[in-house]
Amino acid sequence: MRLTLAACPVTVTSMPVATPSRTISAALGTDAIDAALASALSFGNGCPTKLAEAMRYAVLSPGKRLRPRLVLMANAACGGEPTEALPAACAVELIHAYSLVHDDLPAMDDDDLRRGRPTCHKAFDEATAILVGDALQARAFELLATQIHPAEAAAQCCAELARAAGAQALVGGQADDLAGLRPGATADDLEHIHARKTGAMFVVSLRLGGIVAGANPAQLAALTQYGQRFGLAFQITDDLLDVTGAEEAVGKRVGKDAGRGKLTYPGLWGAERSIEQATALIAEACAAVDQLPGDTQPLYELAQKVIHRDR
Ligand code: IPE
Ligand code: IPE
Ligand code: MG
Ligand code: MG
Ligand code: MG
Repeated sequence: MRLTLAACPVTVTSMPVATPSRTISAALGTDAIDAALASALSFGNGCPTKLAEAMRYAVLSPGKRLRPRLVLMANAACGGEPTEALPAACAVELIHAYSLVHDDLPAMDDDDLRRGRPTCHKAFDEATAILVGDALQARAFELLATQIHPAEAAAQCCAELARAAGAQALVGGQADDLAGLRPGATADDLEHIHARKTGAMFVVSLRLGGIVAGANPAQLAALTQYGQRFGLAFQITDDLLDVTGAEEAVGKRVGKDAGRGKLTYPGLWGAERSIEQATALIAEACAAVDQLPGDTQPLYELAQKVIHRDR
């Protein structure tokens, strides 16, 4: 089922009417991202065939590529040359793909379907899936260190991605998500988990695009604001799709959060208020970036798509 937003239209009237963007050209759409990811996953001697195959299986499967697209869009919004940001786009997607492989493991969410296909540990085996995650992380930082220029930008990208993927962000959020929330937990408690397990990777995707474009601190702050709001709206819709989505469209099992006793936004607020909150967050996200010097239209368009998504 599609999320229905008819009752709460987006009210950011200053935004231009969505038209297909020319700046994020076909050359920098998902095909270009997928080609760059495939090339980042070609290994020479030393990488066992099965490991390389499992890494490509996990990464090149049909995901939405939201985070790498945000890297390129943030770069364009800051007047950059998006081809220069492609290695950063790949790096964030490699970290994201690793996080999904591990998230699906029996010791974590124990899922058997991801992106419409058997999860990595089902298609291969558990040990291979763990190693896939390990190797994807290392490859992500290798790409940044060797392919982002100048060296200062590469170092900043490495430091920011490491922080976003680390114990105080993605991994810490995953740990708290698995531990569960005590009865009576509030929306703030939930937001604290989501800001780390999901939000940090969206924020860093935007910031990496800005850093590669040479964005100034005010521009990076605007991208951070967009990322925080986009990320939270995204997780609200992820929780909603777990309740109302169709498995064939979403590409993963639905209806699992409640069974696992997870606190979610629809669980806390109900579906209607969750949609209202996501809609308001998207409006705020778009407003945050309207002073950026480059083409912000793709950021507006993607934000709108997030609240209307069915996958
Ligand atoms: C799913 O992310 C995991 C969450 C952070 C909720 P996506 O919905 O972006 O997954 P893919 O990359 O499209 O498969
Ligand atoms: C996963 O959150 C977040 C990360 C992988 C960091 P979920 O467990 O809600 O994601 P899905 O629903 O399995 O994609
Ligand atoms: Mg999980
Ligand atoms: Mg999961
Ligand atoms: Mg989920």
